Amino acid sequence: MLNGLPLPYSRHAIDEDDIAAVTAVLRGDWLTTGPSVRSFEEALAAQCEAPHAISCSNGTAALHLANLALGIGPDHSVIVPTMTFAATANAARHAGAEVVFADCDPTNGLMGLSQFEEALARARKNGRQAAAVFPVDLAGQCVDIEAIAARAHAEGMTVVEDSCHALGTRYRREDGSWHPVGACIDSDITVFSFHPVKTIAAGEGGAALTRNPDIARRLAQFRNHGVNRDADQFKDKEAGFDHAEVNPWYYEMTDLGLNYRLSDINAALAHSQLKKLGHFVDTRRRLAARYDYLLGALSPMVQPIARRQNCVASWHLYSVRIDFAASPLSRGQLMRALEAQGIRSQVHYIPVHRHPYYRDRYGETALPGAETYYRNTLSLPLFVGMDEQDVDRVVETLGDLLGMGAGAMRRVAP
Ligand SMILES: Cc1ncc(COP(=O)(O)O)c(C=O)c1O
Repeated sequence: MLNGLPLPYSRHAIDEDDIAAVTAVLRGDWLTTGPSVRSFEEALAAQCEAPHAISCSNGTAALHLANLALGIGPDHSVIVPTMTFAATANAARHAGAEVVFADCDPTNGLMGLSQFEEALARARKNGRQAAAVFPVDLAGQCVDIEAIAARAHAEGMTVVEDSCHALGTRYRREDGSWHPVGACIDSDITVFSFHPVKTIAAGEGGAALTRNPDIARRLAQFRNHGVNRDADQFKDKEAGFDHAEVNPWYYEMTDLGLNYRLSDINAALAHSQLKKLGHFVDTRRRLAARYDYLLGALSPMVQPIARRQNCVASWHLYSVRIDFAASPLSRGQLMRALEAQGIRSQVHYIPVHRHPYYRDRYGETALPGAETYYRNTLSLPLFVGMDEQDVDRVVETLGDLLGMGAGAMRRVAP
């Protein structure tokens, strides 16, 4: 129990220093468009080893901005893995593009190169140009972004990596070099969310990172109503200048943008949290390793999701695969029984192509890997405020409920 409450599947970790950082903003002069936003963006860019980080109001906004900045619209289709949160696909729909859903590896929910190729072949048939692919680093494990991006770029497509789960994850490229997710070595844009269940919390918040200065400028402009204040770029020089000087009030709206700005209040919280990213990720990895170890006693009924080589995940989620066909309880029964024992679990995700909105739009799509993953998956509690005893209790309760013999886990626990 967490202060007598059930263990959630995830939650934020807020300390006094976070509260002090937010309070300082509330006592200051800028609640939005101020220095806390800029310093958070600089810190995030440095953390991810990318030259440009554009913060925004949430991860969904970051995805939408990515579509707008890349000029994705009604003439285009985009490839989105179905095993993700609906926002990845919805953002492209808001830009007017059609979505072609890709399947995933049934053992870890990630879109691989073969699933991408298969979706690309389907996309070619719909008559629209396949403009972009949105690989998703599900649960904090990275996709094979090097291979997917190389293939996509060869097709003239852009790559927007949805890393809302993967701040703090690192991966190794074929040449042996290691990079943080967000460095955009392979992707054109990488997107993060700072929702409270994610690796760091901003309340609500998101960011899009890129190495391309032009894309960065467009992301920032679409975030702020499509407004340009750079006098060099003014289209109407006569209106913008007076006696060879810039008119002080003047700006131009050159694109149809939105207000997707992050406030300084949220930015201060996110920046304070970012300073603790190393501790957060270490804690998550330690707890995930304990789960991995203890779940050996419940194998093969319960198994961790398959691990990708060349990726050190930050583990946003601890998702397992459960053989519900062989289990005495259905998934609904198991979730309710766990809840009765003070343990909350969640399913990540209902494949997006199954939602009525997308079924009505595109009809049925056969994506068998995603169906298998969805049928078996369950996310167990994983957050920074947990300790090893919480993990032990979750696995022990799971074993008991699945009829694996009372204390199956105790036999392997050191
Ligand atoms: C994979 C993925 N993409 C996008 C989002 C959207 O992020 P946000 O909730 O910050 O809008 C989420 C959030 O749950 C997510 O999990």
